[in-house]
Amino acid sequence: MFLGIDIGTSAVKAVIAPARGKVIASADAPLSIDSPYALWREQNPEDWWTATQKACARLKARAPQEWSSIRAIGLSGQMHGAVVLGQDYRPLRPAILWNDGRATKECRIIEEEVANLAQIAGVRALPGLTAPKILWLKREEPSLYAAIARILLPKDFVRLQMTGEFATDMADAAGTLWLDEGKRQWSEAICAASATDSGWLPGLHEGSEQTGQLSRQAAEALGLRTGIPVAAGGGDTSAGAVGIGAVSDGDTFLSLGTSGQFYISDETYRPSPKSYVHAFAHAVPGRWCRMGAMLNGASPLAWFASVSGADIPALIAEAMAARLDRVPLFLPYLAGERSPHNDPYIRGGFMGLETTTTRGEMARAVIDAIAYSFCDARDIVAAAGGTADRAMAIGGGMRSDLVVQTLSDALGMTLTRNIGAHTGPAYGAARLAAVMEGALSLDDLTEKPPVETVFEPDEAETGRHAQRLQTYRRLYQALAPLAR
Ligand code: XUL
Repeated sequence: MFLGIDIGTSAVKAVIAPARGKVIASADAPLSIDSPYALWREQNPEDWWTATQKACARLKARAPQEWSSIRAIGLSGQMHGAVVLGQDYRPLRPAILWNDGRATKECRIIEEEVANLAQIAGVRALPGLTAPKILWLKREEPSLYAAIARILLPKDFVRLQMTGEFATDMADAAGTLWLDEGKRQWSEAICAASATDSGWLPGLHEGSEQTGQLSRQAAEALGLRTGIPVAAGGGDTSAGAVGIGAVSDGDTFLSLGTSGQFYISDETYRPSPKSYVHAFAHAVPGRWCRMGAMLNGASPLAWFASVSGADIPALIAEAMAARLDRVPLFLPYLAGERSPHNDPYIRGGFMGLETTTTRGEMARAVIDAIAYSFCDARDIVAAAGGTADRAMAIGGGMRSDLVVQTLSDALGMTLTRNIGAHTGPAYGAARLAAVMEGALSLDDLTEKPPVETVFEPDEAETGRHAQRLQTYRRLYQALAPLAR
């Protein structure tokens, strides 16, 4: 059995799976985000380790027999976060997360310093990535910056607690802006431009390589045996890709969770330096990806459920009954947006409300907006040469047929939901651990789970959405200058 642990943003998720076949059991432990100031998004790294222990205790209770036969562990996690540690290897401050928008000036500084930045790092400087956050710390929290001894990504802080090792995988390293994506090594030029000593950064590994083993203390905390090997694993998007078998050239999927991604797997490195497409290293050796990455994903639906006093299934049922000619437009930018706008200041809003507007119509507008954000992502990835007319749908947000059908209609694409589509990155991390142990080969990772449901676009709906999409885009263009 293999254990996969995903350090997500809203929860830590743990799964047990055999090398071949379905996930046997899974368990979660929730996390919350602090936003002490506008644009700030932080979490306490110690909470990830506490939640990991909770999720593992729940999983052990659910599958005690399988738990005792765990051979290896793989890690996955939210990408781009900055965890800064002092000499004692404890966090100097809360981690600055992937959806934090404070480091905009620092992005400009780094872009001015490194002329061919996006060619090397696979993406332009964006405030959510790790490097600009370190430059921000130097400028805004200089005494804390002076105490930095190490920098880690979120899941790698948990790895440190588990093994005592400072290590990361290529796919998570890819989202820092410090990685030379083509060469799969840290770029000294980008480190220098972002006031980062490359000696602070963790060792780089392919996802299926071993990064130490479970220490006695961690084994006790998790109820496992000492010495279990831990695989490097993957940043959540690429670990999700491994979970669904999206590792061959052109394999495409849409991931919908707290964030959203339109992801194409590549056999060569294909940066698109002028756009906000991310060309990143994959968690699998000799593979890369191109993706449009959205900060909001399915979060607007969770937000609307919480403020309108409904749970999500009830809201979706109301949305299904909505009169389509009455559905307003919604901009989903609750956390600003990364692809395609790189705009931390834009915020969400409804447009076209009437005295007759119902909660179901508003919920339908929110679902349409999620789909339109994927249309934007698909279009920038297509402009960068990545085209697809069929994709897999993964992530918790894809549980709803209405959501997946709306995406299929708006994109005009066939979407498939494969078995296990919701288990996502934690399952991918378990598969990477299985490769490390020789229980699977890298070739085995190309296998996709069987298709459960196929969603075909309805032509008339595709046409209707195309018209609404135009207005949606014009609304963003009109509002963006007002939000700055
Ligand atoms: C990818 C991205 C998200 C975060 C949080 O670029 O920002 O996947 O890792 O899930």
